[in-house]
Amino acid sequence: MTKKKVYRNIMIGLSICGIILSLLHYKTSEKKAKGEKEIDYVIGVSQPNLLEPWQVLMYEELTEEAAKHHNIRVIYTDAAHSTSQQIEEIETLKSYGIDLLIVSVDNTAAMTPVISEIYEEIPVIVLGRGVEGYNYTLYIGSDHHFIGEMAAEAAMQLLGNKGGDIIELQGTGSALQVEERSKGFREKISENSAYKITDSLVANWQRDKAEDMLKQLLRYRSDPPALIYAYNDAMALGVRKAIEALHLNGIYIIGSDGVNKPDGGLQLVKEKKIDTTFITPTGGKEAIRYAIEILNQEAEIPKKIIVRNHQVTPTNVNDYIHQKDVSIDRQKTKHVKVTLGFAQVGKESGFRAANTSSIIAAAKDEGVKLILKNANNDQEKQIEIIRGFINKGVDVIAFSPKVEHGWDEVLQEAKDAGIPVILSDREIQVNDSSLWTSFIGSDFVEEGRRAARWLVNGKKVPGKEVNIIELEGTSNAAPSIGRKEGFEEVLHDHHSYRILDSLIGDFTYQKGKEMMTTALARYGRDIDVVYAHNDDMAIGAIEAIDEYGLKPGKDIKIISIDATKKALTALSTGKLNFSVECNPLLGPQLMKSVKDLKAGKEIPMKIITSERTFTKDEAKQEILMRHY
Ligand code: AHR
Repeated sequence: MTKKKVYRNIMIGLSICGIILSLLHYKTSEKKAKGEKEIDYVIGVSQPNLLEPWQVLMYEELTEEAAKHHNIRVIYTDAAHSTSQQIEEIETLKSYGIDLLIVSVDNTAAMTPVISEIYEEIPVIVLGRGVEGYNYTLYIGSDHHFIGEMAAEAAMQLLGNKGGDIIELQGTGSALQVEERSKGFREKISENSAYKITDSLVANWQRDKAEDMLKQLLRYRSDPPALIYAYNDAMALGVRKAIEALHLNGIYIIGSDGVNKPDGGLQLVKEKKIDTTFITPTGGKEAIRYAIEILNQEAEIPKKIIVRNHQVTPTNVNDYIHQKDVSIDRQKTKHVKVTLGFAQVGKESGFRAANTSSIIAAAKDEGVKLILKNANNDQEKQIEIIRGFINKGVDVIAFSPKVEHGWDEVLQEAKDAGIPVILSDREIQVNDSSLWTSFIGSDFVEEGRRAARWLVNGKKVPGKEVNIIELEGTSNAAPSIGRKEGFEEVLHDHHSYRILDSLIGDFTYQKGKEMMTTALARYGRDIDVVYAHNDDMAIGAIEAIDEYGLKPGKDIKIISIDATKKALTALSTGKLNFSVECNPLLGPQLMKSVKDLKAGKEIPMKIITSERTFTKDEAKQEILMRHY
């Protein structure tokens, strides 16, 4: 999008939200008086309500950050808890010619298609609460499943081995974040039969509603519950009021949000009105900063920024009440001295070569002292390298883990030495999630879904079964697990697609070719499709099919993941049929995180990269721009 150096008096005709717009009017007039007439961008903000304290905080953070950028105007709307009003307001914002929309939602199902439609025309940042799918520019918010799990762990700690009955107080019933929190909470709680969720109430995030509903429920219950988990602090306060009104004692209360204001979660914990809460950053400030980066087309923008949540208890509440926001001046951090130890997994693929080059180049650009060592696809070696970094006392360790398990011990050593660890490209499973600080990489499950969606949406002979050979990457590696899961999830509803065999090709060309030769010897012409977890194995498979005397891309369709130049070339010549991108260019984001850590800034829990898919025609266009 080109910059618009025009003055727009955005107040003309606006009548969406009285209070907020008058504030905006004041600010706009003030700037006019100062002669600041030129703006580059108009940003629309659509919030579902300004009744929840958390939404109010989001609004305050947005306005505070927006005030620092004189080349933007922001139009704010408040839908007062009405989804139809929010849809209308977005239409109105669109009619004012906004360049970008920042939107937070109450109702996921109704808002997902609206957001998808807008995203076809302008960039959209989804803030704080997710929508289904990936039809937006950027999501900034929490991992709500993780919040649910943390709440369950807190509940189990509070209740101890004795356990007890639990009541859940949810926000709206139609929101993804509610569904995810509930799933995370229930999955963890159900691991131990001593804990039982007896009731789930939906109190729409509202204090008074929570109080009324709970009073009604508890009046008719013979035994009071042992604990109540409210999905926000406002409802947790309603719970406290209900319990006091009914003269009940000894019921634990868990809230969520941790807003630092009167009656906010932090005060409630401090005053012992609730037992614990979870700080849920709104992402308001980041949304404005990213909006400007998106509009300026300055840097590669991730797809998701998952902020970090913290549990607040009476023991640490004062630290959070007095915590200062560390904002980084990028010009100043340019010369910060920092040493990064990077334990690369191996040299198995084109993706990996591009990933290594990206890390080396970005470290050079950012002046980060990089010690990069390669484990040649050997987990023991990778652990040894990480230990070496700990002994050396580097500032930050990053690594691309070969497999998901087996890292607890060495990461505990890094934690004990006070060295933060960033997971690059692949995630891990450890007992204590505080053993790593941040993950930067792809959504492998979504990559698998994308591969399968292309397949099931393509042409098919009615009534004929489609036989698939899956070439899997390294056993127990995050991409192999995720890509399998996503692919099977989509095929689950399409019964004529059958995975004949899944063979381990270890992400290499050689193994891919060998496994495809084996598959052809076993199943020959019965094979209709090859789903390769990466390009190198797909290229090996193409050669094996050629040598067998069949036409790759015609007799056997081939789908692969990574979208390296080699794959795009094979796509453009018709030997490969569909390519799902896995972005290896993680260097710049990694160096930014390393420097932020060194400067004492909290970095996101996860940064998920933005990725595309390619058909034959799209590959032809992309090939010229692709450097790896
Ligand atoms: O972890 C990412 C995967 O690792 C890539 O898709 C594959 O090519 C690689 O080696």
